[in-house]
Amino acid sequence: MTKRVVFSFLAVLLAAGAYAADLTDAQRAAIEERIKPAGESCLEGDNTCGAPAVAAASAGPRSGEEVYNTACMACHSTGAAGAPKVGDAAAWADRIAKGSEVLYVSGVEGVAGTGMMAKGGCMSCSDEEIHAAVDYMVVNSQ
Ligand code: HEC
Repeated sequence: MTKRVVFSFLAVLLAAGAYAADLTDAQRAAIEERIKPAGESCLEGDNTCGAPAVAAASAGPRSGEEVYNTACMACHSTGAAGAPKVGDAAAWADRIAKGSEVLYVSGVEGVAGTGMMAKGGCMSCSDEEIHAAVDYMVVNSQ
């Protein structure tokens, strides 16, 4: 009984395989043309998909200002969650005194127990982009 089921399953598979193999290249191309999706949807960050890929690939790393404006400003321009405001020299003096390397680590790893999470929550940001954002914040807070 089980054997017969397996055999008939195989027979169907073989038949389907033979059918597909009988198609000419032209027929296959025609079918692909008919069933191709009407539009292409791309996942954000997928550089291999669609036209914006070219722009994304040639754009290179985002500047510190761009990263700040998209990922850091929400807290650091308003002081939300107790964040030191960019432009507030008094709030930054002691932090800047720790040196860039220490601030880079805070930027990339976050500050434990505070609203400052790793990379300010920008998980698509590279370490270098975070460093650039920290530099941007420091330069504008002295
Ligand atoms: C959700 C709010 C929030 C976001 C978004 C955020 N920060 Fe912060 N950040 C904070 C808070 C709160 C502190 C103060 C932490 C503390 O008490 O030292 C802080 C502190 C810092 C410091 C100083 C750390 C130190 O060692 O003195 C740096 C540098 C910094 N943030 C960089 C960034 C960068 C770069 C981004 C964006 C990529 C960012 N932050 C996004 C909340 C935020």
